[in-house]
Amino acid sequence: MKVTVVGAGNVGATCADVLAYREIANEVVLVDIKEGFAEGKALDIWQKAPINLYDTRTVGVTNDYSKTADSDVVVITSGLPRKPGMTRDDLISTNAGIVTSVTENIVKHSPNAIIIVVSNPLDVMTYAAHITSKLPRTRVMGMAGILDTARYRAFLAEALNVSPKDIQAVLMGGHGDTMVPLPRYTTVGGIPVTELIDEETLNAIVERTKNGGGELVKLMGTSAWYAPGSAAAQMVEAIVRDQRRVFPVCVRLEGEYGIDGVYLGVPVILGKNGIEKIIELQLNDEEKQLLETSRGHVKEVMDALDNINAAKA
Ligand code: NAI
Ligand code: 2OP
Repeated sequence: MKVTVVGAGNVGATCADVLAYREIANEVVLVDIKEGFAEGKALDIWQKAPINLYDTRTVGVTNDYSKTADSDVVVITSGLPRKPGMTRDDLISTNAGIVTSVTENIVKHSPNAIIIVVSNPLDVMTYAAHITSKLPRTRVMGMAGILDTARYRAFLAEALNVSPKDIQAVLMGGHGDTMVPLPRYTTVGGIPVTELIDEETLNAIVERTKNGGGELVKLMGTSAWYAPGSAAAQMVEAIVRDQRRVFPVCVRLEGEYGIDGVYLGVPVILGKNGIEKIIELQLNDEEKQLLETSRGHVKEVMDALDNINAAKA
């Protein structure tokens, strides 16, 4: 299996590293526009192979898409990260230009690839990649839900003093403050979380999760990369190993949850064909309202992108 990661920055290089040391692909191609940057990161990862004992080949290239030809999966992380004071949506214009041109190059050389978008604002960059690629919606998706859920699970594990391995959860909606937590679908070793934690602590954890990206931006001056890079690699693994894992993934909804033409995180089954199935949960009125707010926000940013594109045309 061949996997390309576009953007050799913090998230892209972390993703490539996980793909390599966990031998998720035979070959990982890292692409960046900064001269020599991807080459250096790929060489560094390759030189770690004799220490950590893996044989995935890592190759770095500067904007040379011929080397990405016939990739099975492509992860797009190219774009600006958030800086303190910025929202994910502030990145829209610059990152849409980058994601669009990268997607054009990708589909030219790998017409059968499955594309995973990471660049922000995530839901709208997934939209940009999907309309540019003209691929079926099952083959162009965004990574955010695994990360948001991981943050929620990590905070819960800390509060309950249990292993994060035993916390199962799902979050829905857009990647941002309007994400939709679903505590009634959260379990700890099969036990509903609501039986183990008081409402006030759970609400505080949900709030912290919603601001999870911002918390890290404040601490580091840029956005996170270890968990995001690993989350993207986990999606690649589910696809290349046809694991049929159940993850929240950003996809264009076409009637599911009563929503049409908007890109939102929903639980899906992820396998060799990309999104094998969208799972429709029976939401209660409060959850439906939260999802509607999230839909409205993502749609506003999609419309903003449409306006930018119309002004350019
Ligand atoms: P970074 O600045 O470390 O890396 C971005 C890389 O993209 C840079 O090396 C840059 O040279 C490269 N790049 C820019 N234009 C390019 C082009 N046209 N072709 C190829 N490479 C290009 O940023 P970082 O931290 O890796 O974040 C990347 C993106 O991922 C950001 O938009 C960030 O907001 C987003 N992100 C999304 C998350 C999610 O959950 N979906 C989580 C964390 C970050
Ligand atoms: C994150 O959630 C900024 O989207 C990025 O860490």
